[in-house]
Amino acid sequence: MKRTSLVLQMLAGVTAAGAAYLIDAQRRKSESAQSVPFKRSSSAFSSFRSLFGTHDSSGSSPKPENRVVLITGGSRGLGFAIAERFGRAGNRLILAARNFEELVEARNSLVKHRAVTSPDDVLLIPTDLTDAAQASSLIEHAIQHFGRIDVLVNNAGIMEVGPVEDQPIEAYRRAMATNFFSALHTIHAALPHLLQRDRRNPAVIVNICSIGGKIAVPHMLPYTASKFALVGFSQGLHAELRHKGVRVTTVCPGLMRTGGHHHATFRGDQKREARWFNLAATTPIVATSVKNAANQIYDAVAQGRAEITITPQAYLAARFAGIAPEATQRLASLANEFILPAPLSSSTQTSETKAPWAVEQPAV
Ligand SMILES: NC(=O)c1ccc[n+]([C@@H]2O[C@H](COP(=O)([O-])OP(=O)(O)OC[C@H]3O[C@@H](n4cnc5c(N)ncnc54)[C@H](OP(=O)(O)O)[C@@H]3O)[C@@H](O)[C@H]2O)c1
Repeated sequence: MKRTSLVLQMLAGVTAAGAAYLIDAQRRKSESAQSVPFKRSSSAFSSFRSLFGTHDSSGSSPKPENRVVLITGGSRGLGFAIAERFGRAGNRLILAARNFEELVEARNSLVKHRAVTSPDDVLLIPTDLTDAAQASSLIEHAIQHFGRIDVLVNNAGIMEVGPVEDQPIEAYRRAMATNFFSALHTIHAALPHLLQRDRRNPAVIVNICSIGGKIAVPHMLPYTASKFALVGFSQGLHAELRHKGVRVTTVCPGLMRTGGHHHATFRGDQKREARWFNLAATTPIVATSVKNAANQIYDAVAQGRAEITITPQAYLAARFAGIAPEATQRLASLANEFILPAPLSSSTQTSETKAPWAVEQPAV
């Protein structure tokens, strides 16, 4: 691509990203009269404040919402923060993840910090969501226990980091199985139940995608491919279900300080891959706090939003990529060439940094 054309694309991208933000803010303002199932934020500018991390809606709701909220990957990181936020508003929770001990710790912490009033408000169901049968029994068990599911948050996810030369096919299979099929499994199992509801009180599906599902991130191709799949599925689901009384919210976070980098799998030059990734995932200016992200997700559900992007950097990057796709890819390729570690010549060195998990334990 010629240099002038690249520069023009970049200028157009920056201008359009700013304009897109103003148009989006205006649209949200005009939508503010829509009926919603939750307490909403009062000002159209609250979304602007929350985008920039200054919005605080963490205070308890004056009246308990008494909804049943199922959160996959609710044992730690973003899932736990979402559980805490919905718990504080007076909702009952179902937390699903593979590691039973972590689920128990999560519940103890929710009780200790008074996010819920009693341990009975939190049902723990150890589940490997990559298995459709386990996802199905999770939904069945949740409905049997609390009588219904009002909000289904598909948050469980894994990260695979390393250059394409060092990523085995298995990394793509694992990423697709967890980041895409887990959400598909729970939605598929819950849909008949969600569709039976009174349309004045719509059920909500929240899909935690990623900015990596809008822009291809080098050295994260298994993750990026799975998140692109999830964004497409989630947006299509919104189109198909909205008039049938089920709201779908697609959430595309940029970097968040969730602690999730401890559980990522690194391949290739593992030390250097871990170094750049951990730096990005823990630096406050680059990565937002997990509490701020959870507040924004709670507000998005309250406002019946179809899609939100968390962090201003991610918001502008997604708009920039939309208007200047070639310039975006060029910038990504420059980052790959000059910043990210080179691949190893052999693709046999891999690491598995995950903790072992418990499968098939009884719900408590
Ligand atoms: N951190 C970021 O900067 C960032 C940015 C954009 C998007 N996201 C997305 O946000 C979500 C949460 O990320 P995080 O950083 O909080 O990650 P995290 O701390 O690693 O938490 C992931 C959660 O998913 C669960 N999980 C993983 N595989 C599972 C499976 N097969 N079945 C059931 N549960 C499973 C984990 O529990 P077990 O291991 O016990 O199963 C854990 O509770 C992910 O979807 C991620 O892609 C994160």
